[in-house]
Amino acid sequence: MPQGHSAPAMRVLIFDSGIGGMGVVQSLRDTHPTLHIDYLADTALFPYGEQPDAPLTLRIVSLLKSACDRLLPDILVVACNTASTIALPALRECLKIPVVGCVPPIRWAGRVSQTRTIGLLSTSATARRPYIIDLHQRFAADCRLLTHGARGLADLAERAFLGEPIADDDVRRELRQLFQQPFGTEIDTIGLGCTHYTFLMPAFTRLADQPVTWLDPAPAVARQVGMVMSQIAQEDRNARSARLLMTKAPSDCIRLERAVERLGFTSWEVFSPVSIPA
Ligand code: DGL
Repeated sequence: MPQGHSAPAMRVLIFDSGIGGMGVVQSLRDTHPTLHIDYLADTALFPYGEQPDAPLTLRIVSLLKSACDRLLPDILVVACNTASTIALPALRECLKIPVVGCVPPIRWAGRVSQTRTIGLLSTSATARRPYIIDLHQRFAADCRLLTHGARGLADLAERAFLGEPIADDDVRRELRQLFQQPFGTEIDTIGLGCTHYTFLMPAFTRLADQPVTWLDPAPAVARQVGMVMSQIAQEDRNARSARLLMTKAPSDCIRLERAVERLGFTSWEVFSPVSIPA
């Protein structure tokens, strides 16, 4: 590199169905304050947790291919468990950049639990996937795993992120779907299997019926991104900038702008490549 020229700016593209990946952005901002972060939210098809697997996989691959062609990231972060648990192999095959995924923290829960009964909160799609059974068998086979595929929590997280009030009873009702299962009172560790839930952590810790260690993988995903970055190039310390793209315009622009500004996004735009399967 000739003197006086800095390395080209490292670009990271973070992807989720909605605001879930903002937890990873938050952690990345802590460790890499000047990093160029683009964010794509597939808000037109939110919530992913209610979509059938096959068309969803096709859409994710097609959407991210278009987004990578347009934004030219060095690293793609699929900050969505529902997407990662079906689309990572296809994405790694068709994109020529490193792809960091986000998978439910069952292994981590298995390391932490004393009672050997662990819980997983995720979307309903993630909860029913063979991926979960596989993780459980490979990494926490000696633990009893209780799962709850929640329909309502991602919506509540979207609202919490925007600073809107959410009802304690709505959160409590979902948590009890775990605690009231057989052996639920033995759960001592719960993993967040949906990135949206980062923004419900204060409610979870306040409203849980019993003492629980909560595991949020967002900081670990950010660390993994840092490791991949250190392997591929030097970060330009002066590069901080950010673009926020959504496949559908938000219903409350003002609230959204206020919520994302603290994470470095000063504007947003609608991204709608013509070819993505609906
Ligand atoms: N944030 C997503 C996840 O990690 C899912 C939310 C949704 O779209 O249902 O699974």
